[in-house]
Amino acid sequence: MSYPTSMAINGKSYAKSVEPRTLLVHFIREECGLTGTHVGCDTSNCGACTVLLDGDAVKSCTVLAVQANNRQVTTVEGLANEDGVFSPVQEGFRQEHGLQCGYCTPGMLMAATALLKETPKPTEEEIRQNLEGNLCRCTGYEMIVRSVQWAADNPDGVPVAIGESS
Ligand code: FES
Ligand code: FES
Repeated sequence: MSYPTSMAINGKSYAKSVEPRTLLVHFIREECGLTGTHVGCDTSNCGACTVLLDGDAVKSCTVLAVQANNRQVTTVEGLANEDGVFSPVQEGFRQEHGLQCGYCTPGMLMAATALLKETPKPTEEEIRQNLEGNLCRCTGYEMIVRSVQWAADNPDGVPVAIGESS
């Protein structure tokens, strides 16, 4: 049996009929074609599937699509602005080399985005605690922490150099 399920993802409406067991991550990737959200484990361990649900970071492999019915979802595709300018957190990862293979990166970006919304100036300890549920096999986390610190220090994104026209 399928249930009509609709939600706004990155401000766009998606309405599909899905089985009640369909996970939100599969709804996002397979029904809506937004493959920026990754599946690393499917067992709530790695955080690669993290998205924002009504502004809160959730592991989308732990949420049923029907539980997100009539709610707002933000995925990594929704972070940059319409002109493709990176959000401060994305820019931080670029500036501080916060990724290697990139598999964990969408989840890291979403978790960090939620953190900075709640705590715009987190301590290093708070950043590490917040990203505890997001695993990275490549970076050793140091550059990821620095990337989030960069975003906290540059809430408007890339600083414009003196003499550079906007
Ligand atoms: Fe969801 Fe790993 S795929 S936590
Ligand atoms: Fe490869 Fe994090 S950059 S898993």
